[in-house]
Amino acid sequence: MHIRILGSGAGGGFPQWNCNCKNCSGVRSGDVKCVARTQSSITVSADGENWVLINASPDIRAQFESFPPLQPARKVRDTGVRAIIITDAQIDHTTGLLILREHDKPWDIYCTKEVNEDMTTGYPIFNILGHFRGVNWHEVMPNETSFTIPQAPGLRFTSVALKSEAPPFSPHRHNTVDGDNIGLLIEDLNTGKSVFYAPGLGVIDTTVFEYMDKADAVLVDGTVWTNDEMSHEGISNKLASEMGHLSQNDEGGIKETLSKLETTRKILIHINNTNPILDEDSDERRQLNEAEIEVSYDGMDLHL
Ligand code: MLT
Ligand code: MN
Ligand code: ZN
Repeated sequence: MHIRILGSGAGGGFPQWNCNCKNCSGVRSGDVKCVARTQSSITVSADGENWVLINASPDIRAQFESFPPLQPARKVRDTGVRAIIITDAQIDHTTGLLILREHDKPWDIYCTKEVNEDMTTGYPIFNILGHFRGVNWHEVMPNETSFTIPQAPGLRFTSVALKSEAPPFSPHRHNTVDGDNIGLLIEDLNTGKSVFYAPGLGVIDTTVFEYMDKADAVLVDGTVWTNDEMSHEGISNKLASEMGHLSQNDEGGIKETLSKLETTRKILIHINNTNPILDEDSDERRQLNEAEIEVSYDGMDLHL
């Protein structure tokens, strides 16, 4: 399979439009050694022709343009994306659906009933799309249920309920239920290789750890280095844990957990603009390099 990282940034992207934190100013001025990142989205294909989009970010238009297989130009209106999976209803993972409204038929969208509820009530994008070509909703069960997508042969997806956070417009905010956030084991049925994708991960429980351990690669929550990072520059008084993200460097954090994986390739995704690991010359980035943890970037390809 081929996975293309379309957007490796968290909500807001990097630089964020209104942000003048050290990283955001540094990427604009060129004073910090780092690259800009668009918001969280990946795409996967087993045959290089039929692509599944996983999460649709507000930057989706530029992301499609950045990756030619998504525009194979076989007819006057065309796309390489055959179906869409949404792992949670957050703005950074769903707003791109509005940008994709000109599709010539209803979009086949795979998500849980909790995400479908948010998409039809608190942030009713599916209702809005109903005024265009509409949505063919396919229910994803949150608890370790596998499914295939007929239009994207050769791939199998298995959902894993994650402890993270529902969006502010969800009735489950601060009271999440299974189905608000899922991780995905993505398997190539021909090569037998697999990737575990979880851009928003608040807790790594035994089940999640086992999925990470058995996958050939993980693409997991790289939002923040420390739990209180957003308060450092007076940006917000919110802890990352309150937003459903496990930090990298705190005790029991992502770095410590990933270090226990012996055979899995370890890659961070959904990196917030405040995270010091964005600076390639930082001590934090050096610590990740030493732990053999990679930091994904827009345009990164995984072939498994
Ligand atoms: C998150 O991952 O916590 C959200 O995407 C934050 C946001 O974009 O508002
Ligand atoms: Mn997010
Ligand atoms: Zn910033």
